[in-house]
Amino acid sequence: MSGRSNGKASIGKPKIAVLGMGHVGLPTALGMAELGWEVLGADSNPKTIAVLKEGKSWFYEPDLEPLLKKHLDSGLFIPTDDVDGAIASATVLFVCVGTPQGDDGKADLTQIENIARTVARNLNGYKLIVEKSTVPAITAHWVKKTIARYAEVESRSISKSGKNGKKVRNSHSIPEFDVASNPEFLQEGKAVENFFHPDRIVIGVDSERAQELLEAIYRPLNCPIVVTNPTTSELIKHTANAFLSTKISFINMVSDICEAVGADVVNVARGIGLDPRIGTGFLNAGIGFGGYCFPKDLRAFAHLGEEHGVDCSLLREVERINTRRIERFIKKVRKALWVVQGKTIGVLGLAFKPLTDDIREAPALKVIEALLREGASVRLYDPEAMPNAQRVLPEEPGRVTYCRSSDDAATGAHALIILTEWSEFKQIDLHRVRGLMEVAVLVDGRNIYNPAEAHRAGFEYHCMGRESMGHHFPALTREKKASRKRAVAAAKPTKTAGKLPAVVN
Ligand code: UGA
Repeated sequence: MSGRSNGKASIGKPKIAVLGMGHVGLPTALGMAELGWEVLGADSNPKTIAVLKEGKSWFYEPDLEPLLKKHLDSGLFIPTDDVDGAIASATVLFVCVGTPQGDDGKADLTQIENIARTVARNLNGYKLIVEKSTVPAITAHWVKKTIARYAEVESRSISKSGKNGKKVRNSHSIPEFDVASNPEFLQEGKAVENFFHPDRIVIGVDSERAQELLEAIYRPLNCPIVVTNPTTSELIKHTANAFLSTKISFINMVSDICEAVGADVVNVARGIGLDPRIGTGFLNAGIGFGGYCFPKDLRAFAHLGEEHGVDCSLLREVERINTRRIERFIKKVRKALWVVQGKTIGVLGLAFKPLTDDIREAPALKVIEALLREGASVRLYDPEAMPNAQRVLPEEPGRVTYCRSSDDAATGAHALIILTEWSEFKQIDLHRVRGLMEVAVLVDGRNIYNPAEAHRAGFEYHCMGRESMGHHFPALTREKKASRKRAVAAAKPTKTAGKLPAVVN
């Protein structure tokens, strides 16, 4: 998408500005610095920049701080809160600002528009504006239009024309620019690893100059590059997130079927996932997906389709299944505890996934809120996310307690629940933890333990889509009820049969 850019340009070594120093922007900026590019990391929040200048990341992401320190020292990464200045002095601008959920699930593009207007104010030579933030299809068109509109206002030259002395816009003075889409596929907790080892890079361009610039920037990564137009590229990102969410809701639905018929969802996932047409990834059943991306991107994608008259009921159902996971899990806790009111529940995991301190749309918090509403008190532990959680769910003596360790959270509890699959939880000594608890009930929302081992450690173990161990009053499935009825009927002595058949359970 170009604003009067058609010629090829000598690429040289363009200076890069990354706009927005969040979960996407910071790893992207540091990754590019590591590839040898000069990068300005801009953010309008002076506090964020002050923290970065001290060599600290404002959020937890593995391997990020060493890279930050390295490139503050190398001088290849310069953090700044002067967004206008960064835009003015760079040629390639990666836009990594937030695209939160607006009304009706629609993406709120206020920050994107803001950046487009800031670019227009600082269009002092050729620039390539690259959307990295997840945006709905056709956003690049609007970015281009907005930059052109406001750049024209900036550069409006006043000249007298005709007798009435009207102002005339001299639009020819606007420098050339391109708008491209280059969606990110970074997972929180693996962002640095994902940056350096991408499966693919997608670039949506409509000028050779933009394509050459982006290919040059990413060449050292040596991975497949999909080149397409900006709208298709924008759609690829939403489609990827919607598809992954669909896989999760699909396996969660299968998990419920497994529970009903007595099958094991972990083996079902493996059994289907080894087929390369399906793939093993994103088939972990549990309490559902959360985070800043999947829930809002799914809604924005469905909204976009419906706005264009497309039936997106598949995506709506994916969301509904995900929402119902919380109640499904709470039912398990109720079934295990009988009465939740007055019980102390140890909670392991608050972040929406492991290796992050991010609690946005975390299923864990929804579960905790539901338990508190039912009158339980909670003892919470997460290796990284407790400071963020404390902001939305403050400590309340006797009701909400933040703990120093898994052991601490389990101490005196009537049940221990697993809500995030941190590897440190997988390694805990279940025998020891059991000894700390008042009642040995373990409800595992992420299937991180082997049921037989948990049972051997003395736990009554409840999990997702697999048989629970040691629960004394199992609900009978419809099939089991029918088979029990048949067995009882068959067990009645008849005139013809002398022997009683064994009762099948
Ligand atoms: C997701 C995508 O995976 C990235 O490719 C994308 O770049 C990013 O969104 C984004 O749009 O910025 P992220 O939200 O960081 O990344 O985390 P994921 O690893 O995708 O997990 C999302 C949620 O799904 C988590 O709550 C996780 O627990 C859940 N999940 C994941 C499952 O419940 N089951 C699974 O099998 C996998």
